[in-house]
Amino acid sequence: MCGIIGIVGIDGKNVANNIISGLEKLEYRGYDSAGIAVVCDRRIEKLRAVGKLQNLKTKLEGNPISGSVGIGHTRWATHGKPTENNAHPITSEGVAVVHNGIIENYRELKFDLQKDGFIFETETDTEVIAHLLQREINNGCSLCKAFQKVLDLIEGSYAIAAIFSSFPNTLVAARHKSPLAVGFGEKHICVGSDVSAMSAVCCDVIYLEDGEWVKIADGNATFFDKNSNPIEPVKQKISDDLISIEKGEYAHYMLKEIMEQPSAIRKTILYNKIDKEIFHDISRILILACGTSYYAGMVAKYWFEKFLKIPVDVEIASEYRYRSPIIGKNTLAIAITQSGETIDTLEALEYVRKNSNSRVVAIANVKNSAISRVSDFVFYTEAGIEVGVASTKAFTAQLVILARMAFGNHEFLMREFQNLPAICEEALDLNDEMKHLAQRIHTANSAIYLGRGSLYPISLEGALKLKEISYVHAEGFAAGEMKHGPIALIDDNIPVICLCPHNELFEKTASNIQVALARGKNIIIFTDSEGSKLLPSETTKIILPTIHSEFAPILYAIPLQLLAYNVALMRGTDVDKPRNLAKSVTVE
Ligand code: M6R
Repeated sequence: MCGIIGIVGIDGKNVANNIISGLEKLEYRGYDSAGIAVVCDRRIEKLRAVGKLQNLKTKLEGNPISGSVGIGHTRWATHGKPTENNAHPITSEGVAVVHNGIIENYRELKFDLQKDGFIFETETDTEVIAHLLQREINNGCSLCKAFQKVLDLIEGSYAIAAIFSSFPNTLVAARHKSPLAVGFGEKHICVGSDVSAMSAVCCDVIYLEDGEWVKIADGNATFFDKNSNPIEPVKQKISDDLISIEKGEYAHYMLKEIMEQPSAIRKTILYNKIDKEIFHDISRILILACGTSYYAGMVAKYWFEKFLKIPVDVEIASEYRYRSPIIGKNTLAIAITQSGETIDTLEALEYVRKNSNSRVVAIANVKNSAISRVSDFVFYTEAGIEVGVASTKAFTAQLVILARMAFGNHEFLMREFQNLPAICEEALDLNDEMKHLAQRIHTANSAIYLGRGSLYPISLEGALKLKEISYVHAEGFAAGEMKHGPIALIDDNIPVICLCPHNELFEKTASNIQVALARGKNIIIFTDSEGSKLLPSETTKIILPTIHSEFAPILYAIPLQLLAYNVALMRGTDVDKPRNLAKSVTVE
C-alpha cells in the first residue's frame, strides 16, 4: 500500500535515477500513480504521473530533474482519487513529503491549518504533514524540532520521508505502523518501504521500529526514538535473497512464481524443523490471517484438529479485534502472512498480545518483516521474493509449514513430504491443459468452485485467484453447501469447477457433482486417475497425479493458479499488477 523511497547521495551526485530504480522494486505496493521530488538549487522540483511507473519514466525523459537529495512514491490510493494532483510527493512551499499509511486525525489538523491560512490543493490526508512541517519551519523551528512536533501531532499509521528547500542536504523519515528501513551504501544513504528498493546501492540496513525516526544529512544518519532521544540501532547486512529478481524467460512474475513451487516447497521442507515443544501445554490454536494466507489457515484447521487434536479458530484478521473475542488460556496464536506487514494481521496480533499471555508464532515469507519481529517465534516459508500480486508459491509454502506442524508425530506422512516437490512438478505439466480450459471458460462472467474437507478452502483460493487477476466473478463453496442456495446459480453456461480426488469424501463430492450436472453442462472436475474412472463422462476431467489425501490441498492449488493465470492472459488483464490491488496491504 504505497511504496516510499528517499535517497541522499553522499558524493553530491544526482539520485533521480536511483529513485526511479527503487520505485521499480516498490511498484508492487501500488500503481495508481508515481512521483519523484528532488532538491535542486534550494528549490523543490517534482514530477508526478497517474498510473504505472512507466508513465512517470516517460514524463521524466522529456523533463529530466536532478538533485542529490530526493524522494519517490508509488501510490495505492486511499484518500483522494488516483489523479496527478493527489499523487505524491505532496508539497507545501519548500517541503515535499511522501507517505505510506493513513493520517487518521487529518480532518482536525486540516481545519487548524486552514485557520492559519494554509490552502489545501489535494484530497489526500498526507497534505497535512507537508503543511504542518512548513508551519513549524515558518515559525523558526529547527528541522529536527519541526519534525518532532509534527510527529507528535499526527495520529494513524505512517512511513514518511520529507525533503526541504531550506535544508537542501537533509532528509528526515519516520515510521509508525508502516514499514521503513534505512539502507547504507558506499555512496548513498536511503530510506525505503522495502529493502529490495535500496539493495542496488546499499549493503547494510537498519529497520526502524514504531515511533523511531531518522535524520540523514552530510553523509550521516542520526536515529531517534519516539521521545526524540538519540538511539544507535544496529546495522544488519542486506541478505542476498533480498537482491532484486528478474522475470527471466517468463512473461509474468506470476507464472515464474507458480513454476518455482517445487523448489519453494523443497526449501521450505529443508529449512524448517518444527519443534514439538511449540504445542506444549497448548489447549487452543488461534490462526490470524487475511486473503490467501487466511485460506492456508483454514486448511490448517482440518490438519491440526485431526492430527494434534487441538481445537482451532481461524479468524479473518481485519474482523478480529473489532468484536470481543475470547482468548482462552493456553492459546497459541499463529499469524500467517506472505509479506509480514499486513496491517490487519499485525493489529490482530497486537490485540492478542495486549489481551492475553498467548505465545505468538508467525509464518512469514519476508524475513525481518514487522510481523516476524513482533512474534515469539517465526517459521519462514522459503519461497523467495514473491512479486506477482496474486500469491502463489508463498501459499503452497505456508501449507507445507502448517502440514509439518500438524504431521509431526506421524512418521509416514513426514516421510511423504520428500515426494511432494516432485509430485507438484508433475502438476505444472498441466499448464497446456489449463490453456485449453481457459480458452473454453475465459468469456464466462462468473464461475463456481466446489470442494469438500480440506479442499473446501482450496476452492475459495481458486476462486480468489480467478477474481483478482482476471476480474471474473468467482465463488468457492463447500460442495455440500451448494444445495442450500448457490445451486440457483447453476445453468448451462456457468463453469462449475470441482475438486474431487479419490479420497474418503469422494462419494459425497461425486454426488454433489451429479446434482450440479443435472442442472448445468459446464462441469470441470480436478481429480486423479482412480477418481476419473468413476466420475460422469459428460464432465471435463483434469487428471492430477495421485497423492496421499492429506497433501491434496497443496497439489490441487497449483492447477487452479495456472487456470486463473491463463484466463487472465486471454482476457488481457495486467496479471502481475491487477487493477485496484497492491501486493502488501498496510492500511486498514
Ligand atoms: O502478505 P499477506 O499474506 O499477509 O497478505 C494477505 C492478503 O492480502 C493476500 O493473501 C492477498 O489476498 C493476495 N492478493 C492473494 O493473492
